[in-house]
Amino acid sequence: MFLSASFGVRAITVPTTPPSNVANIDKSLVAVSIEFFAFPQYTTLVSTSTCLNNIANLRGAPVAVRIGGTTQDRATYDPNLSTAVEYTVADPADAPLSLTFGPSFFSLAADMPGDVIIGLNRELNDQENTRAAAVQAKNTMPNLFAIELGNEPDLYSSSSPIAGSRTWNQNVDEASEQSWFNALSNSVGNIFQGAVYLSWDTSPLVSALGSAIGHVKSISRHSYPQSACGGASTDLRSLMSHSGIVSYTSQYKSGATAAHNSGLRYFLGETNSATCGGGGISPTFGAALWIIDYVLQGALNGVERLYFHQGTIGNCQYCWWGRFTTGAPFYGVAFVSEFLGADGARLAMLDDGKSLVASYVVYNSANTPVRLLVYNSNYYDGTGTRSGTSVTFSGGGIPSSGTKTAKRLTAPNATSRVDMGARVTIGGGGTFDGSCNAVGTQVRENVAVNGGSLTVTVNASEALIVYL
Ligand SMILES: *[C@@H]1O[C@H](CO)[C@@H](O)[C@H](O)[C@H]1NC(C)=O
Ligand SMILES: *[C@@H]1O[C@H](CO)[C@@H](O)[C@H](O)[C@H]1NC(C)=O
Ligand SMILES: *[C@@H]1O[C@H](CO)[C@@H](O)[C@H](O)[C@H]1NC(C)=O
Repeated sequence: MFLSASFGVRAITVPTTPPSNVANIDKSLVAVSIEFFAFPQYTTLVSTSTCLNNIANLRGAPVAVRIGGTTQDRATYDPNLSTAVEYTVADPADAPLSLTFGPSFFSLAADMPGDVIIGLNRELNDQENTRAAAVQAKNTMPNLFAIELGNEPDLYSSSSPIAGSRTWNQNVDEASEQSWFNALSNSVGNIFQGAVYLSWDTSPLVSALGSAIGHVKSISRHSYPQSACGGASTDLRSLMSHSGIVSYTSQYKSGATAAHNSGLRYFLGETNSATCGGGGISPTFGAALWIIDYVLQGALNGVERLYFHQGTIGNCQYCWWGRFTTGAPFYGVAFVSEFLGADGARLAMLDDGKSLVASYVVYNSANTPVRLLVYNSNYYDGTGTRSGTSVTFSGGGIPSSGTKTAKRLTAPNATSRVDMGARVTIGGGGTFDGSCNAVGTQVRENVAVNGGSLTVTVNASEALIVYL
């Protein structure tokens, strides 16, 4: 057996029933956000339905989708437009500065199998146009979960039409959201997603809404752990770090608690690894590993759904699919979806969150532990020796002897990119083809059980599921 000199063996007792720090798992914990102007084009890509179906099959429930982003605040509804969306760009890699969309936009959204959140315009301050779009969405989409009014208003400025002559700030936004919810609920009911903030705390909005809170279903904040904007540098080692992810995601807890205390759902309505192009780290295998830990820590901090953003097709490093083969990040999506499974109801972390090696257990609705996950976030970039960490599990209904099975997610190293030809694998031979179909054969490893415990070894920059 390969034992690491540097990290040693860890011993973990799996609670036989869910411990007090357990989190409920939403059926669509891993969700997808699609940039507003690009949504109709996404529906023409075969990968969109195959990737979403892969997740749905693993979780036993359709994937929730949010359609929105920067371009929702550049969009004007045209009830007479025969196409779903209309815009011109100088380069296909660009996002449009203005666009119109028609009723068939919502027919395409109605075809999505899961809950859909639609992001409409507030920044341009044309409330009657947004009302017409909201009414059309409501009348067309049986799967409409919520409507956003504006995207990341923390980035609006005094030159945004909604600001009028005011200096734009969080207090002004709170009053603006309140008045728009009151005005539009007369036409579409209590169906709004509030906040949609990138950097502002969402809790003050929940307090400030007063009786308008009755029009709101969910609170959304956006989150990107790293930025490549303005030439800022990104770092894969820190993106992947388990203790770093535990620390970063702890900021969601107070916002989630405030939303839940007011009876609202709490989502990361838009998230991904690094803003402004992804900084080269976003398409890597390390980002796939980040997704696993980030999703699980999100849930533990009260986030019910994480909507991973998919941007301009063909110009989007953090996208899971698009005009290239199925990217490395999707392998992390599939792996964490398999861990959560169709029967996963509750999740607990089994380590102290202070090291680079994470251990989790998922329980089914009968409170029986069904799977373990070990994530070794030690950074291996292909240089030097790849270390390994052994983790010994006992308790959790592990019998005194026999054999359990495990499935491994691995790649040559953390910087490996499927879109550059690297082989990322699930279960030794499982991969995804260019249309996001699962191909190859996934094999489970046997894990011996001795004296009521089992030991697995997980290499640096790898993850492993143990089936109990
Ligand atoms: C849509 O078409 C109708 C009938 O042709 C017209 O009366 C109406 O003004 C048009 N609406 C818009 C927003 O262009
Ligand atoms: C872990 O890494 C070591 C050293 O590179 C390698 O020999 C071993 O095959 C790896 N283990 C697995 C399960 O991939
Ligand atoms: C990391 O893996 C990729 C293949 O995915 C390989 O091209 C690269 O050379 C490796 N890095 C190092 C430093 O070996």
